[in-house]
Amino acid sequence: MGDLSSPRTASEKRQQHDLPGRIGAAVEVDHANERLRSVLASVSDCYFTLDRSYRVTDLNEAARDWVGPDLDQVLGTSLWDLCSPDAECSRVIREGMEGRRRIRREVMSGLRRGRCLDLLVCPSTEGLSVFFTDVTEQRAAKAALDELAGRFLSLQDEERQRIAEELHDSTTQHLVAADLHLMRLKQYVSSGEGQKVLNEAADAVEEAARELRSFTYLLHPPGLEHSGLAGTVQAFAAGFARRTGLDASIRMPDTADSLPFDVQRALLRVIQEALTNTYRHAAASRLIIDLRVEADTLKLRVLDDGCGLTRGVRKAAESGALLGVGVTSMQARMVRFGGSLRLLSHARGTLVVATLPLGFASDLGSGREPAATSPSAVH
Ligand SMILES: Nc1ncnc2c1ncn2[C@@H]1O[C@H](COP(=O)(O)OP(=O)(O)O)[C@@H](O)[C@H]1O
Ligand SMILES: [Mg+2]
Repeated sequence: MGDLSSPRTASEKRQQHDLPGRIGAAVEVDHANERLRSVLASVSDCYFTLDRSYRVTDLNEAARDWVGPDLDQVLGTSLWDLCSPDAECSRVIREGMEGRRRIRREVMSGLRRGRCLDLLVCPSTEGLSVFFTDVTEQRAAKAALDELAGRFLSLQDEERQRIAEELHDSTTQHLVAADLHLMRLKQYVSSGEGQKVLNEAADAVEEAARELRSFTYLLHPPGLEHSGLAGTVQAFAAGFARRTGLDASIRMPDTADSLPFDVQRALLRVIQEALTNTYRHAAASRLIIDLRVEADTLKLRVLDDGCGLTRGVRKAAESGALLGVGVTSMQARMVRFGGSLRLLSHARGTLVVATLPLGFASDLGSGREPAATSPSAVH
């Protein structure tokens, strides 16, 4: 206090003159710290701070609870006495401290074995602020959900193949037989009205057989194993165009065949589902299948010139609500590889956009523009 009561320099005199203001500011800072402390104490996320020598300088209630009663006296302790420096979480903490950068990552805890943490480290003037949440249960639930989604999708594939075979081998044959019987019946019917009814019945049977052929083809396209994605989509779209009268163009690099097999299969299923929807709902005359690399993603677009989405479907699609099984399973197939799928109405028709991160598609495309082909023009 001695130097404050007897200022020697002009600056000291000014400071003494400002003393009430400085005390007021200190009280404000104290209140702000108190408020911050009570907020941090009440949040469910765990939080602690480290100085630059990795000593724990503060921690909130949630972190205390998580660390457990045996390690309650952690203040002032070196982090490395609590947690192995080689643990995954320790490496991220060191990376944040040394690089002076904010990092968020899911890591395994070095303090409690088998626990998974959502960890956020932020550099501070003192050292580092560390926030974490134990996400072990969420991660396990997500893994179980992914596994279930995978099983659902392969069951769906198997079921479709079974239905397609059944329809092709049995139902279509019954229709062929019914058509033959109708033709035989014609010779026994003499009245004009009777002939007319018979012709209408024969037309209906023929139409049913045509629809069945289209559906069975859409349900179970030819084998990806032999032809790769580019060849399979070419053949599939050609068959689709032939059966439905739709004009289909494809833009796809041959290098699509070098994608991992599971990714090729997922993309083929999305195309298959999108084409089925075009056939069932769009009343379109033309569609385009376009696969290309854009920035750091692989983009598949299926575009038709049909009636577009109804208002209800468009609103549901925009709000992220669940649509039918078809769109939901297309989305699930993309989400499994970290991607996404959107259904959009455009000026004339509908656009399906599937996006996948490029990790597994780096040798694909690289700016090379493949020629667009029109299978319906070939057949
Ligand atoms: N190409 C399209 N043109 C018009 N409407 C479409 C198209 N694709 C999807 N839809 C709409 O989206 C809805 C959801 O599709 P989907 O999930 O495949 O279910 P489903 O085909 O069994 O009805 C369809 O019922 C239809 O209204
Ligand atoms: Mg559908």
